Amino acid sequence: MCKRVFLAGLAGLLLVLTVEARVGNSSESGFCTETKECLLYDLVCENEGYEVRHYEPTKWVTTEQDSYFMEMALGTLFRRLFKYINGSNEAGVKIDMTAPVIITMQEKKSMWQVSTYTMSFLLPSAHQSAPPKPTDDKVFFTDMPDMNVYVRSYGGWMMSLSSKIQSNLLSKELDNLGATYNKDFHYAVGYDSPMKILNRHNEVWYVVEGEPMCPAPEDPTSF
Ligand SMILES: *[C@@H]1O[C@H](CO)[C@@H](O)[C@H](O)[C@H]1NC(C)=O
Ligand SMILES: *[C@@H]1O[C@H](CO)[C@@H](O)[C@H](O)[C@H]1NC(C)=O
Repeated sequence: MCKRVFLAGLAGLLLVLTVEARVGNSSESGFCTETKECLLYDLVCENEGYEVRHYEPTKWVTTEQDSYFMEMALGTLFRRLFKYINGSNEAGVKIDMTAPVIITMQEKKSMWQVSTYTMSFLLPSAHQSAPPKPTDDKVFFTDMPDMNVYVRSYGGWMMSLSSKIQSNLLSKELDNLGATYNKDFHYAVGYDSPMKILNRHNEVWYVVEGEPMCPAPEDPTSF
């Protein structure tokens, strides 16, 4: 019995190890409705409060800006990255937009403190291994490592306030369970352009440290 479980686990592990960076067809994701390609993941476990997901290593194009509020930095960050994919790179090529767009949000920031906001676009599969160099020295590449994340999803518009409310709800639940995760920052994750009005999908992520803690299964008797 134990042996069979072990072998199944090993087969699963080998399968995971042979998969390329998981940037794939958006048709495989429920959230990416406006781009051809999307960041894909393996669901580890879930309940109504949160999901645990596993992400393969991926390469992103990134820029950062100091600001008092996320909203003040967003336009600058987005324009810089958009210029890169719109041809401001050494090869002069246009690169497809993907989803999601992620922003790192420092946790220990008071209202009146400047904080560094980092925005990243996921490079499409065609540019994962050798993306053209940016011409703007404020634009650079980052490698997201193989990681597990705790995820809470929400609708509507992603703002620093909504991201803070959602990350507080998630961190409270994780702390109650004694889950371990990186408390220095969370990712604010957006899947939709401002043009999309209905069924918007956003997420907050905390990076798991150690073994991920799966949420307790829902109690079917409680309503
Ligand atoms: C993505 O999947 C859809 C539906 O399965 C298919 O029509 C489309 O050609 C695929 N796109 C790419 C780039 O593979
Ligand atoms: C994108 O590049 C094209 C030229 O290829 C240019 O006409 C257009 O204004 C650029 N868009 C933005 C938003 O910079």
